Amino acid sequence: MTPAPESLFLDGLRELVRLDQAWIPPSDLGALYIRPILFSTDPSIRVKPADRYQFLILTFPFGAYYSAPVDVLVTERYVRAFPGGTGDTKPGGNYAAALLADQEARDAGFNSAMWLDAQERRYVEECGVMNVFFVVGEEVVTPSLSGTILPGITRDSVITLLRDMGYSVRENRISIDKLVSSYDKGELRECFGTGTAATLSHVGRIRYRNRTLELPPVEQRTIGPAVRKKLLAIMSAKEADPYGWVERI
Ligand SMILES: Cc1ncc(COP(=O)(O)O)c(C=O)c1O
Repeated sequence: MTPAPESLFLDGLRELVRLDQAWIPPSDLGALYIRPILFSTDPSIRVKPADRYQFLILTFPFGAYYSAPVDVLVTERYVRAFPGGTGDTKPGGNYAAALLADQEARDAGFNSAMWLDAQERRYVEECGVMNVFFVVGEEVVTPSLSGTILPGITRDSVITLLRDMGYSVRENRISIDKLVSSYDKGELRECFGTGTAATLSHVGRIRYRNRTLELPPVEQRTIGPAVRKKLLAIMSAKEADPYGWVERI
């Protein structure tokens, strides 16, 4: 797809946010979600890359996405992405392919699915529609961008903030068996997901096969709550933004 020119995108977005300002919820209640979309307008049903595209930006107010910690079910039956596919991009089809696993997780009493890699069904990739982080011992670990993981902007921001807050963050392959053994040794202290809508969402329970990993209550966690607070403070301009992420309109 031909990307929209950056100036069209940004100037259009600034204008739209100005127009929609009455719809922006107070920062402690929610945010204005911004969703750019590019789709084909070719007058053709042939399956081929399109020649012409329409660029839209949708906005909608939303409240805190997951306010309570989420429980996740590790799926071995379905995969969200596979090597050589589109898992590290954002076509609507990626969401479609993930819906059944999520539905089955919800039917089983969980909030969403946790995804493993397609080849070995062994390495954790993402959590629902969020990137995922674990605190193991003193270290924060998150799956490395392998081509099957969405390189989320919130993931990137959280890694930057954590490092600047003095935490060690490692991007690596994370096997589910190792997570279970870290849990058994009492070293798995936190798990959280990151994404634009959720910002940072704590994970309460992880179900894998016949094991349920019960993580400590949020009040007993340090790293996830601290980085979430920092990110929200920067987003809502309560704290200075040394990174150039925030633009006042
Ligand atoms: C599969 C998936 N992973 C992660 C994310 C989080 O990405 P971001 O932080 O850019 O919102 C999203 C967001 O839509 C997603 O769809």
